[in-house]
Amino acid sequence: MRAAAQQPRQLPPPRHRRTAVLAAGLLIATAGGTAAAFTATDASAATDAVAGCTVAYTVQNQWDTGFTTQVTVTNTGPAVTSWTLGWSFAGNQKVTQGWNADIAQSAAAVTAKNLSYNGTLATGGSTNFGFNGSYSGTNTSPTAFTLNGVACNGGTPTTPPTTPPTTPPTTPPTTPPTTPPPGTRVDNPYAGAKSYVNPEWSAKAAAEAGGSRIANQPTAVWLDRIAAINGVGGGMGLRAHLNKAVTQAAGQPLTIQLVIYDLPGRDCAALASNGELGPNDLPRYQSEFIDPIAAILADPAYANLRIVPIIEIDSLPNLVTNTSGRPTATAACDTMKANGNYVNGVSYALRKLGAIPNVYNYIDAGHHGWLGWDDNFGASADLFAQVAKANGGTVDNVTGFITNTANYGILHEPYYTIDDSVNGTSVRQSKWVDWNRYVDELSYAQGFRNRLIQAGFNANIGMLIDTSRNGWGGTARPTGPGATTSVDTYVNGGKLDRRIHLGNWCNQSGAGLGERPTAAPAAGIDAYVWVKPPGESDGSSTAIANDEGKGFDRMCDPTYGGNARNGNNLSGALPNAPLSGHWFSAQFQELMKNAYPAL
Ligand code: GLC
Repeated sequence: MRAAAQQPRQLPPPRHRRTAVLAAGLLIATAGGTAAAFTATDASAATDAVAGCTVAYTVQNQWDTGFTTQVTVTNTGPAVTSWTLGWSFAGNQKVTQGWNADIAQSAAAVTAKNLSYNGTLATGGSTNFGFNGSYSGTNTSPTAFTLNGVACNGGTPTTPPTTPPTTPPTTPPTTPPTTPPPGTRVDNPYAGAKSYVNPEWSAKAAAEAGGSRIANQPTAVWLDRIAAINGVGGGMGLRAHLNKAVTQAAGQPLTIQLVIYDLPGRDCAALASNGELGPNDLPRYQSEFIDPIAAILADPAYANLRIVPIIEIDSLPNLVTNTSGRPTATAACDTMKANGNYVNGVSYALRKLGAIPNVYNYIDAGHHGWLGWDDNFGASADLFAQVAKANGGTVDNVTGFITNTANYGILHEPYYTIDDSVNGTSVRQSKWVDWNRYVDELSYAQGFRNRLIQAGFNANIGMLIDTSRNGWGGTARPTGPGATTSVDTYVNGGKLDRRIHLGNWCNQSGAGLGERPTAAPAAGIDAYVWVKPPGESDGSSTAIANDEGKGFDRMCDPTYGGNARNGNNLSGALPNAPLSGHWFSAQFQELMKNAYPAL
């Protein structure tokens, strides 16, 4: 246990990417996709009565005291202009927070009513909403629902219609269906849309033993060098991906995720992903990278796609946390702060890409193990707002932010919270938390979203969380809180994130695939996404000559004893890793083995 308060940590470790090696057990309730669908055909056809409905009630995530549910309602009867879905919980579940519906609860009975923007449900139309809930004991999903008072009960109406409707609905729908036509900018580009499956990643995944279990998941396309626009080494370029995306869309809404990653002086606080452009190459970044990408994205052939650029991983936060005045400052980050080329590069990308109507920009927002400290949190949000408005830009060019890209931060810690204390000592004083304000990515993303809105971003921004490698399942997963001997035994024994140190980020041993890509999984979250393609290395474990500008960062060397950014701990990296971005079969297998939810 620690003595008197220490100084808040000034500098969190840079970068995302991470894992560890400790052992533990397995726990946490069932997460992941208990979906049930119920249908009914009924026939009381008054105004806004519904002649049939299908309800899919999916518990997407569950822990010992809480859960997150997504509900999709499909109207198989006449069009309605307002709806109320009703059900009763079998246990003591309580709705604590909802989205996309106005949810009320009285004892076990729950009603979810439409909001102003999603009341219209055409025949065959669907809408979805979600909520977080609490429970104890067993979280049994409801199986009986009513829509506008009519049962949706598995195809057998509780009260069969006595007479068929004699008249068709009197009024045809006057408003268009709630699902906007493809190509219209929507609030959350992931909602109601398919996601692009990168055929190149998919083929590599499928070629691995057991890989077909995940080979059809959507992952991001990384534009990590100028040559990637036309395709590296005969591989698919941007147009090839977009053409394939149009095929996959087959006329339906489809989201394609592109990582825009070639900033001048890239990766100023680390070495493994240094890039091709020097610190002063802003003109090349603009004319040879962003301009050609923007020209392709603006092609009318792609106007119906929902294009999501993820803007410049690991860049802006470095200007806050790894520059002079901070113990982890680097000369390279000082240079990028002084020459303004991170700010101007990101500003340029946001403006050029944001001018295209079907493009949805998301800016990289680090992760809780980087910006979760007070000194970094607000300063980063304010910097992001400054960048969005720089050079005549506007916050309207920003749909949202992404956290945890290529990092390993756990989505939710069920066995301790930031508010816990042990024998009167806050968990913030534990070695692992080290005065951070957050212990997991979901709470961080939601908290940071609020701070971003305060900084000037629009109130409807949404967050993405990269869950490609933060599952932390496997045999080492704790099954309950740690011993209350001290804050350290309590945190270390109960935390699901098994990294040796929160600052570790490279090819982490023990990591697993996290939540599968999911739209609108929680309040303020547009989607869980797989941006870092599982199986692609974070960096080489020894120096490897290359023509990609990539350096050797010893945080990828399992024999390295660490530095100030990880408290001089072992790196926790897997051995024998290839260059960053190159296929790393052993890592792919490790991620599948430790997946949570399990495969
Ligand atoms: C790293 C690499 C980059 C690669 C990306 C995705 O950032 O530096 O080249 O595209 O990871 O794997």
